[in-house]
Amino acid sequence: MKPIQVGLLGIGTVGSGTFEVLRRNQEEIQRRAGRPIQITMVADLDEARARQVVGSQAQVVTDARAVIANPEIDIVIELIGGYGIARQLVLEAIAAGKHVVTANKALLAVHGSEIFAAAHAKGVMVAFEAAVAGGIPIIKALREGLTANRIQWIAGIINGTTNFILSEMREKGLSFDTVLKEAQRLGYAEADPTFDIEGMDAAHKATIMSAIAFGIPVQFDQAYVEGITKLEAQDIRYAEQLGYRIKLLGIAKRAAQGVELRVHPCLIPAKRLIANVEGAMNAVVVQADAVGTTLYYGKGAGSEPTASAVVADLVDITRLHTADPLHRVPHLAFQPDSLSSLPILPMAQVVTSYYLRLRVADQAGVLAKVTGILAQADISIDAVLQREAGEGENQTDLIILTHDCAEQRMNQAMAEMQQLSTVLGPITRIRKEELN
Ligand code: HSE
Repeated sequence: MKPIQVGLLGIGTVGSGTFEVLRRNQEEIQRRAGRPIQITMVADLDEARARQVVGSQAQVVTDARAVIANPEIDIVIELIGGYGIARQLVLEAIAAGKHVVTANKALLAVHGSEIFAAAHAKGVMVAFEAAVAGGIPIIKALREGLTANRIQWIAGIINGTTNFILSEMREKGLSFDTVLKEAQRLGYAEADPTFDIEGMDAAHKATIMSAIAFGIPVQFDQAYVEGITKLEAQDIRYAEQLGYRIKLLGIAKRAAQGVELRVHPCLIPAKRLIANVEGAMNAVVVQADAVGTTLYYGKGAGSEPTASAVVADLVDITRLHTADPLHRVPHLAFQPDSLSSLPILPMAQVVTSYYLRLRVADQAGVLAKVTGILAQADISIDAVLQREAGEGENQTDLIILTHDCAEQRMNQAMAEMQQLSTVLGPITRIRKEELN
């Protein structure tokens, strides 16, 4: 089937990630989308860098307008950023009848109304999952998953740079300036990090979410924006003593007279899940009347996390081309004729690590026998804990944590251990998942 052809404007960090994810996962993506998706043309002023990323797999040009003018291109991805030339190119792509995918939150927060109106008039899509919270599918959740609800408020940690700075200030008691330098050294903050630390980046994202949550136009100029530059280490310390963490939150809230749209540092009770989102991670809490509170967490920036959102938008648009309106999104995500015969594994083949509790006689050689059985079964031990026998007791609990092994091997080892005369009761086994 003829591939959907994509033109990419700007192949920096996110563009490279998009190219790589599409290349690596092309088979699964095609099974979901119903057609192959290929980046066939890339425009970047740094032609040499672009060629290094795409090799001979796509045409490289320096003129973005050549991509827009190419009649073979179905979708244009805009990853240039900013409101200048990016706005012009997006409008030109729409005028040329191309669907547009963009990660440009500044552009949409400021010029979204103009861009969406142009796309509506032309009958093309402008998709922007990557514009808010990078790889977290929060746009999809707000726009599709929560449509039954009256959304009451959204509060998000939607800037990773500032969250990294606040986390380090709290954990290490460092000053803002020291941590900012560290963030720049690690590549989290931009060389000019003003948009991050002054709250503008978070405000762009909060503006977009407010529009989707409440059905209002994007109104970045109405947002209250306060960054973290005036925060001092002692405020973070005092807040902690009072049971709070300070986070830079983007808030969109339905109030009696209108909508609150604001970004500023906030004290949050330390026991809230979102208060424990640390480092460069992002998280968004949505409070809605039917579902209650939901939380979305993940990487808000970076090459492949952001590419994940860009490619999801490409798949959405491709499905418009491949499916009849009743079956735009396949019931099981993959096209019905592309389901795989991958088997569900029997439990015996499942690999996990284990917690074992054995009631054993408190005498010499017991531990050696038990660990010997595990060693013979090639099951590696992670930790052993033996509770001290109680006063006058001659038996005790032996706790063993293992590394990963197949269930079948553990079943056999447990059966052997259970036969030992020094194992005095049924062995308790709880499977362990590190989820890391
Ligand atoms: N600069 C942003 C952040 C990443 O630190 O979260 C892209 O929006």
